[in-house]
Amino acid sequence: MSDVASTFRDQYGAEPEGLWAAPGRVNLIGEHTDYNDGFVLPFALPERVVAAASRASSGWRVCSDLQDGSVSFDSPGEPGTVTGWAAYVAGIVWALAEAGHDVPPADLAITSDVPLGAGVSSSAALESAVLTALIDLGGLDIPVAERPALAQRGENVYVGAPTGIMDQSASIRCEAGRALFLDCRSQEVEQIPFDVATEGLAVLVVNSNAPHRHVDGEYGARRKACEEAARTLGVAALRDVATDDLEDALKRLDDDVMRRRVRHVVTENQRVLDTVSLLRSGRIREIGPLMTASHASMREDFEITVAEVDVAVETALMAGAYGARMTGGGFGGCVLALIDAERADATAAAIAEAYEKNGFTAPTPFVAVPSQGATRL
Ligand code: GLA
Repeated sequence: MSDVASTFRDQYGAEPEGLWAAPGRVNLIGEHTDYNDGFVLPFALPERVVAAASRASSGWRVCSDLQDGSVSFDSPGEPGTVTGWAAYVAGIVWALAEAGHDVPPADLAITSDVPLGAGVSSSAALESAVLTALIDLGGLDIPVAERPALAQRGENVYVGAPTGIMDQSASIRCEAGRALFLDCRSQEVEQIPFDVATEGLAVLVVNSNAPHRHVDGEYGARRKACEEAARTLGVAALRDVATDDLEDALKRLDDDVMRRRVRHVVTENQRVLDTVSLLRSGRIREIGPLMTASHASMREDFEITVAEVDVAVETALMAGAYGARMTGGGFGGCVLALIDAERADATAAAIAEAYEKNGFTAPTPFVAVPSQGATRL
């Protein structure tokens, strides 16, 4: 990663007061459950956004070695005023101010090694690094548990993307060697030991490099369908449909597409709970079938997978993975496979070969190590 302190010095002619980092994430299981008040189990990646920052006398200036030019604003203005990548920064300033905080004017320089457009939350990492920096610089008293909702509000309202709270929670609250079991309704978390390496295992992540197709519209459509189903079923959110009540609930819905959306969310919440139980008792390999079932549910019921991710999952399983699934919002992005560590290279090679045979763009594999959430460096 580039030296962001020197980018800061070049741009603003002074040393930064500090450096703050926040990671990207992958989600072990629990997809499209967050905005249904359900359960998720992400872990943080070592890849992260780093912000070098200092207090300023007025306004905000932000530059990045990954973008041309710098952006400055005296006030974030109404949602949507600042556009492009700097909107994520302005959204954080806006959300803090709107929540009544005295946001410190600041100069920021940003760098990142979180892959963009790969579904590993590069935008939540940016938001979380900026949020953590501004909170520290301003001496703001905001408990860690309340920070993800602020970052999410910046993204939902200021940037205008209707995402749930998983990504910001992962980037802010994850711990090294652990997966974050988050109840998206109560915001309660449990740090679940997920030390795959000592078990001789690895989580192979394969970026499908599939071109993103209609991601925003399809995401919003899934969210709407879930909210409509909850209204029809007379519950606050699909989280309130218990696994035992699923068959009854499905009978009360007359639309087949909606039935399948509901079935995904309800069974996926149960798979998160089952995964957590297995991990609590150290039975890591046994979560494999739950991962694979999650993928089938995303493919058949939630209909958010594409050929590239399906091929990666099938190939990983044929190469001996205990389980494999797409992670993230869908329509491309990354696949996770839980495998014996010594099979990581062979599995990645098998997937690359399958991609070539299918005429897909070559995938990018890497091994994911559960890492630390947002922190001052
Ligand atoms: C995206 C969103 C998250 C979550 C996932 C799907 O990453 O930002 O809030 O909904 O998709 O699980």
